[in-house]
Amino acid sequence: MSLLIKNGHVMNPATSFDEIADVLVEENQVKKIGKDISEDGVSQVIDATGCFVFPGLIDLHVHFRDPGLTHKEDIATGSAAAAHGGFTTVVAMPNTKPVADSVEVIRYVNDKAAEVGLTHVIQAGAITKGMQGEELSDLEGMIAEGILAISEDGKSVMNSNLYREAMKIAAKNHIAVLAHCEDINLVNGGVINQGAKSEELGVGGISNAVENIIAARDIMLAEETGATLHLCHCSTKETVELVRDAKAKGIKVSGEVCPHHFTLTDQDIVAGDSNYKMNPPLRGKEDVEALKEGLKDGIMDVISTDHAPHTAEEKVSDLNKAPFGIVGLETSAALTYTELVLKGYLTPMQMVEKMSVNPAGILGIPKGDISEGHIADITIFDPNAQYEIHSADFVSKGKNMPFEGRKVTGRVVTTILDGNVVYKYNK
Ligand code: DOR
Ligand code: ZN
Ligand code: ZN
Repeated sequence: MSLLIKNGHVMNPATSFDEIADVLVEENQVKKIGKDISEDGVSQVIDATGCFVFPGLIDLHVHFRDPGLTHKEDIATGSAAAAHGGFTTVVAMPNTKPVADSVEVIRYVNDKAAEVGLTHVIQAGAITKGMQGEELSDLEGMIAEGILAISEDGKSVMNSNLYREAMKIAAKNHIAVLAHCEDINLVNGGVINQGAKSEELGVGGISNAVENIIAARDIMLAEETGATLHLCHCSTKETVELVRDAKAKGIKVSGEVCPHHFTLTDQDIVAGDSNYKMNPPLRGKEDVEALKEGLKDGIMDVISTDHAPHTAEEKVSDLNKAPFGIVGLETSAALTYTELVLKGYLTPMQMVEKMSVNPAGILGIPKGDISEGHIADITIFDPNAQYEIHSADFVSKGKNMPFEGRKVTGRVVTTILDGNVVYKYNK
């Protein structure tokens, strides 16, 4: 099996390669990158003229709801959505049913994801048993099984002592801690950002402090334990500053931003539409600007989706009752290109860093690099395609998102996993 990608704009930040070139793939590896590679003997040729060719995108934050909540998503539909979005590796969060807090659940996900074969799924292990916050889960067992990260996503481990013990184990075993920062005692029934909009809509507000307090705590514990801390879905200007200060001190911390948090503010929320409800919530204008500036100046390292599918029935209920979360796998690259690259916050190479190179670095996996000899996980992206987002086009079971009808530029046209085409856009 060989595959030749012709005439694309190859972007490989790992080697600072940023040129029009051909990419030859043999079996599951990149064999050669260069000009005018011969088509002789090649089994499949892809014309990538006018397109970007970059390392497969890596999403550090998805919810595949499998096992147990497969009416919302499952590993097959989630993996298909990942492939459509250009993602060749995703990290699945452990708030499944049962919670991914044991070797058995980790094995179940690994086996099913391998069988589906549309994206590489890395299951994060839950920090506490059943995500109850009371007792550490079998971290050593899951680490022996090969997990690369632990997380309690959906909440924070509020017991700082227990959390510190988990961080020590993560540090000793060189795996990442993916932190959802939310002081549950401060939420007080809040459902959207606290401010003029929550008052206008007459619903409870979630203040910036809900996130900031735990982000600051987590950074201090990372300093103390030496753990690699990754702050998920940062939404406030204060978190950006906390990450900036922590990095200046040499603490091992990275920050993640989701497309919804840099695309929308709380002012965009349409009354009664729960597709605008996610946790952390859409924030104010100053926060959004700080997130974009943070991405631009390299303080924020990663763009992830927090792909959080829910059923249409759950999401038709009002802001108070509907669950938090929006889907993002099939819109992330286009929103990032439209909102950050075209508006001058990121170069295309920096977009690839935030969506592939840096996530690989945080996980410590040899991905995010398509230089010769590396695994051929490759995404081909057409930066000139213009279209409207419609949830009816999604292959994810989840259609919940607030971008219906939004015009974007940039489309994933081909996704290659281990040298095989797993997604191709059909006009
Ligand atoms: O919006 C969210 N949805 N935030 C979370 O922290 C959890 C997630 C989910 O699991 O639905
Ligand atoms: Zn979260
Ligand atoms: Zn999440």
